[in-house]
Amino acid sequence: MPKQITIIGTGYVGLTTGACMAYLGHQVVCIDTNVEKIAELKSGICPIYEKGLPELLSMGLETERLSFSATADLDLLQNEFIFLCLPTPQAEDGRAELAAIYEVAESVKSSLSSKAIVVNKSTVPVGTSKVLSEIIGREDVEVVSNPEFLREGSAIEDFLKPDRIIIGADAMEASDRVAELYSNLESPIIQVDCASAETVKYATNSFLAMKVSFVNALAAVCELVGADIDSVAKGLGTDNRVGSKFLQPGPGWGGSCFPKDMQALVKLASDSGYKFELLEAVVDANAQQFERIAEKVKKAVGKPLRGVHVAVLGLTFKAGTDDVRNSPAIAVSQLLLELGAQLNFYDPLVKSLPKGLSDGIVYDSAESAVANTEVIVILTEWPEFRDLDWVKFQRIAKEPKIVDARNLLDPRSLRDIGFDYTSLGRK
Ligand SMILES: NC(=O)c1ccc[n+]([C@@H]2O[C@H](COP(=O)([O-])OP(=O)(O)OC[C@H]3O[C@@H](n4cnc5c(N)ncnc54)[C@H](O)[C@@H]3O)[C@@H](O)[C@H]2O)c1
Repeated sequence: MPKQITIIGTGYVGLTTGACMAYLGHQVVCIDTNVEKIAELKSGICPIYEKGLPELLSMGLETERLSFSATADLDLLQNEFIFLCLPTPQAEDGRAELAAIYEVAESVKSSLSSKAIVVNKSTVPVGTSKVLSEIIGREDVEVVSNPEFLREGSAIEDFLKPDRIIIGADAMEASDRVAELYSNLESPIIQVDCASAETVKYATNSFLAMKVSFVNALAAVCELVGADIDSVAKGLGTDNRVGSKFLQPGPGWGGSCFPKDMQALVKLASDSGYKFELLEAVVDANAQQFERIAEKVKKAVGKPLRGVHVAVLGLTFKAGTDDVRNSPAIAVSQLLLELGAQLNFYDPLVKSLPKGLSDGIVYDSAESAVANTEVIVILTEWPEFRDLDWVKFQRIAKEPKIVDARNLLDPRSLRDIGFDYTSLGRK
């Protein structure tokens, strides 16, 4: 049965949730304080790059099942389900900053209809749903935790075909009503208590970050012992207990979620009396990975980087998204800048120097970025980088050297073209 849904916070998670819920037949309104974003959405312009999202947006507007508002008017808060998809950035001490969620809860509480369910999709520390219930302070309104697991770059597919849907509630009736919203999907629904649902989200992101750091460390060992990381990852990943995903070495993990969620879990654990040394070591290992890549660039160039022109391919934190928040490409590039390198950037979607970089020029084409540089560094795994004109690049670069920090290209073809090619953990 179609339901009436209000979504507060129309970013990556809120917009994806809204567009997909409308696609599933529900009547959805998305609210955001960003007036320009709402104006764009109303006219059918998708403010983020996400495969399949513009189509779902148009479909939602056409069928009038999806609408947008820059103000949380009373009638919009009368819907049965109020989803919170608000930012929970990292506070200075590592904790998750929950002000946006708590402020919204405070401001909407008296407008909610009786029997409404507030569904929290933001990633929050254990206990947040309980605090939300206390803030709302109404016996006729339930708070349910429904953490989101979508990945930017495949958000729509992840939302519509998730591995599982986690619903955390302390009242079974509310849990069942939220489960009903997803009844058109074939994915398993796991219904648990609020605290467990909140923990699953942090556990998932921390485990995945740990897996990435593990394979990065393994790649370093492969280089030392003469093994090949691609073969090792294949052998390791075909073991069902391990699984083949997240076994690709790279410049380190980043993005808008992993770093803050790792820190938040470490902090939550220590505040609760457990020192999560395993995760602390993973955070350190990731910072070391950025340095390892900068070191590889220095080694490839064969001299101090002061004044050396470097072409950096890729700025987003991964392929398929325009998101540069906590991008490893930025972390590594900033280290290169601190070593005195002069950076030329190219990214298919990023056209100006992002926050976090103190210098550098962003070019419109890979060719312009590469011309006259002494080394090319690949930091994002954009598939189109494979199809660049590497034969031409070999000629126009001042020195034909590549540090492929994503193991994206085929070593043999690049060496055949005449490149001095370095990657991670490969023979
Ligand atoms: N981005 C992801 O891949 C992802 C995946 C899973 C979970 N999450 C979690 O979901 C939450 C949201 O993440 P996101 O990436 O969508 O964030 P985002 O920054 O893309 O979007 C948040 C939106 O909330 C709006 N907003 C802020 N305060 C508001 C208010 N008071 N009222 C209405 N709108 C307000 C902002 O303008 C922004 O558009 C975070 O907790 C995040 O950790 C994110």
